[in-house]
Amino acid sequence: MDSQSDNPLLEVSDLTVAFGGRPVVHGISFAIRQGQTLGLVGESGSGKSATSLALLRLLPPSAQVTGSITFAGQNLLALPEPEMRRQRGSGIAMIFQEPMSALNPAMTVGQQIAEAVQAHHPEMDRNAIKKKVLEAMHDVALPDPAARFGHYPHQFSGGQRQRILIAMALVNRPRLLIADEPTTALDVTVQAQILELLASLRRSHSLAMLFISHDLAVVAQACGQPGDQVAVMQHGRIVEQAPAAELFRAPQHPYTRRLLASTPTMQTDRGLPLASLA
Ligand SMILES: Nc1ncnc2c1ncn2[C@@H]1O[C@H](COP(=O)(O)OP(=O)(O)OP(=O)(O)O)[C@@H](O)[C@H]1O
Ligand SMILES: [Mg+2]
Repeated sequence: MDSQSDNPLLEVSDLTVAFGGRPVVHGISFAIRQGQTLGLVGESGSGKSATSLALLRLLPPSAQVTGSITFAGQNLLALPEPEMRRQRGSGIAMIFQEPMSALNPAMTVGQQIAEAVQAHHPEMDRNAIKKKVLEAMHDVALPDPAARFGHYPHQFSGGQRQRILIAMALVNRPRLLIADEPTTALDVTVQAQILELLASLRRSHSLAMLFISHDLAVVAQACGQPGDQVAVMQHGRIVEQAPAAELFRAPQHPYTRRLLASTPTMQTDRGLPLASLA
């Protein structure tokens, strides 16, 4: 088992993604161990989502992907599609930025989480599935799962919908969670609650996480445990990677410094304009 050895759970090496011959991710490499979070930060268009979609092989066929992606000892880029489908959800799960568009408005949330279970456990009967769904809703602290099982997405708040997506992502107990801007659509208070939830789920599930954001302050919160790393992406390249605490204390790359300078802190003089990323 790689959990007992020194092998990382995910190892990405020299990954390149190109569209029509134009590379948008240029030979990036990183690794994530069980229980560890890697924060991937960079401005809009730097290639963060292209990277995360490449890991799950969810890019359109027009994308050319090269390099290697090893997950739990398997080369994902060489995996036949049926096995890749098995990995999606049960090995690696993903939550997206927009909780409303990722949910089906015409299906109850209970049914939607149940479908995620069924996809990986066709042998399970209705009662066993429902029990698993209620447990997952409970895990993400949705109030009164039994009563809310039959409700539709529009009957939940934005933060609750994001909790439903997290429940759906984690119901099959994946080992790696990819969270691509999971809090960007939420207001600051709800954002903090979701970050706390992810932190507690990491501990209870010993989950590895790739946490993607354009916002360094959010990445700092998501990468708050010892051993967590942050990688800074600019124009498709990782320009700096370091343990989270170190990167925030002593950023080395000029781009990281500019990103940090453009993040307001408690010490920021609110009378002055924020530094720009030009
Ligand atoms: N399907 C596609 N076809 C062509 N180009 C694409 C496609 N998807 C992404 N790109 C291009 O790849 C580059 C990186 O996009 P990506 O979505 O990875 O950025 P990002 O870092 O996730 O940005 P954001 O913070 O806005 O989400 C952009 O220039 C984008 O236009
Ligand atoms: Mg993106």
